[in-house]
Amino acid sequence: MTSSLCSALRAVLCWTRLPDAMSSPPQVRVFPSKEELFHASAELFCALGSQAIREWGRYTVALSGGSTPRGLHQTLVANFSKQLPWEKVFFFWGDERHVPPDFPESNFRMAKETLLSKLPIPAENVFRMAGNLPDANQAASIYEQALREFFHPPPGQFPRFDFILLGIGPDGHTASLFPGTKALEEKQHFVAGNWVEQHSTWRITLTYSVLNNAANVMFLVEGSGKAEIVRKALNDPAANLPCQGVQPESGQLMWYLDQAAAATL
Ligand code: 6PG
Repeated sequence: MTSSLCSALRAVLCWTRLPDAMSSPPQVRVFPSKEELFHASAELFCALGSQAIREWGRYTVALSGGSTPRGLHQTLVANFSKQLPWEKVFFFWGDERHVPPDFPESNFRMAKETLLSKLPIPAENVFRMAGNLPDANQAASIYEQALREFFHPPPGQFPRFDFILLGIGPDGHTASLFPGTKALEEKQHFVAGNWVEQHSTWRITLTYSVLNNAANVMFLVEGSGKAEIVRKALNDPAANLPCQGVQPESGQLMWYLDQAAAATL
């Protein structure tokens, strides 16, 4: 069997994966300290990776932006660098800021500095969102095309990530799905350019269709500054927060919190 036929076959197999869990209730895990939070999230990241590689020969991951993932990245590098065959791990992003990849605000730059440059990850396994392009909508469609070429989802279907990492902001935004923004309503596209009036900036973000088609989605949240929004997100269904729109249809949703972020639950 030719190698291109093998990879095409694997792509179909990976996409037509049987649902792992039919929209089971979110798992909420609270850890006494952020060190234990990051250790447990790194452990899960690797366990899901080993499972995906065993089953499908690869592990597809969407990273998050913001500051919280730094702790997870640093823990993976420090304590889990031998846990995965990194040449079989493929890195994408949930969202990106509208800046070049070397800018301090770039989510790509943060991941490169804290994770990608510190592990034997082949450059061809890293799929950056082109935040540097003047037109954020064009960057979004280019990324959507990259997702199509990688995942080969059949017509009308969405890519299925093995693992998506998310954070939440004090306003309940996640990825770059901010309250009151257009991308919240996007049903067709995998990726959207999103004008965020409250920050007077464009963002590029995966849409709910892709987030909710993942096998595993983890909200990683730490610190007392997030306690109120975590309480609302988990205990106030009427809050109508963007993060509450993340409900994997046939996957597992997890909230990994430190004690400070869970203080008002
Ligand atoms: C981004 C993120 C965003 C982030 C939250 C939380 O690009 O900013 O993807 O959704 O996860 O804003 O950010 P912190 O981890 O810095 O609190």
